Amino acid sequence: MTSGIRFDAVSVAYGGTTVLDRLDLTVEPGEVIALLGPSGSGKTTALRAVAGFVRPVSGRVLIGDRDVTALPPYRRGIGMVVQQYALFPHLRVEANVAFGLKARKTPKDEIPGRVAEALEMTGMAAYAHRYPRELSGGQQQRVAIARALAIRPKVLLLDEPLSALDAQLRSGMLAELARLHRELPDVSILYVTHDQVEALTLADRIAVMDKARLQDCGTPQDLYRRPRTEFTASFVGNANLLPVTVTADGVAFDGTELNVAPGDATPGAATLCVRPHLVGLGEGPNALRGRIVEVQWRGSTHRLYVEVGGHRVKADVRELRETPLLGSEVTLHFAPEDAVLLAAGVNDDH
Ligand SMILES: Nc1ncnc2c1ncn2[C@@H]1O[C@H](COP(=O)(O)OP(=O)(O)OP(=O)(O)O)[C@@H](O)[C@H]1O
Ligand SMILES: [Mg+2]
Repeated sequence: MTSGIRFDAVSVAYGGTTVLDRLDLTVEPGEVIALLGPSGSGKTTALRAVAGFVRPVSGRVLIGDRDVTALPPYRRGIGMVVQQYALFPHLRVEANVAFGLKARKTPKDEIPGRVAEALEMTGMAAYAHRYPRELSGGQQQRVAIARALAIRPKVLLLDEPLSALDAQLRSGMLAELARLHRELPDVSILYVTHDQVEALTLADRIAVMDKARLQDCGTPQDLYRRPRTEFTASFVGNANLLPVTVTADGVAFDGTELNVAPGDATPGAATLCVRPHLVGLGEGPNALRGRIVEVQWRGSTHRLYVEVGGHRVKADVRELRETPLLGSEVTLHFAPEDAVLLAAGVNDDH
């Protein structure tokens, strides 16, 4: 069986309301795609359509080259981990992990070896005889992952698997998931999250969802450096979105001519995206003069909010010995190559 997942114009509706609108997306064999987007944007719905828990009103879901749209969940060969792990409280860890194997009628003498393998892979071998209530949140999480891996799936669906963990455990588990993926290079993973750090860390590509639609898809670097829409720019990383005017002569912000490449932008209103850590303090190209209206010290950086022509420009500045004074006049600048011009309205109906 080949792996990989393909959404072919998949739409899902509940009671006449479309919650997933003609999704086209391919997860290549062995690839990790993060579905990133705000609450209610349709991420879980997309996952459930792959797992077979919801039936699309139109379109097809393929796993490898097999159309699985009409197959029941247990015949799709998928491992799934949901937000609330959903371990069986009355079963010991080993029985929880064996559950999917039994349901699939795996030969009895194969089961202990497969359970041991999955527990080994998730670092839970020593806990085989415990009950879920005797485990920490992070350990329960590992058992849930072991249970999904025990069936040796070609496709792994992870729905906010770390959201119930505290920040420190989360970053530890994130490293574990990256390691697991290196150990299982053939498994295609669809990873739902609304945490951009998880998406940037784990994913080969990020699919950005909003309002039931796929808005953008690309490598993390690509989306971060060259976002196509304002939504992507503000959702993947932090962004200054400056309203600018494009004319035949160039690009202007607040009456100041800027040195940025107009690309193929058409004359009229547009948005300029500049990342706060690429905005410098002091004179330089694309100098913007303004007044500091807020300062946040964040350990390694100072986040300055500077009012320029009625707009707040964010600058993350490193190595400032003294905290700048509120109300002082400062000059900010950014390099021409660090600015991305976004056409107005690209995020509207398309
Ligand atoms: N069983 C259902 N019946 C009716 N509406 C539903 C059902 N499941 C989901 N929805 C609606 O579909 C939309 C998309 O839901 P979905 O669970 O896919 O969002 P999500 O992107 O996973 O959000 P979150 O980040 O909050 O988990 C929401 O508006 C939700 O209310
Ligand atoms: Mg969800």
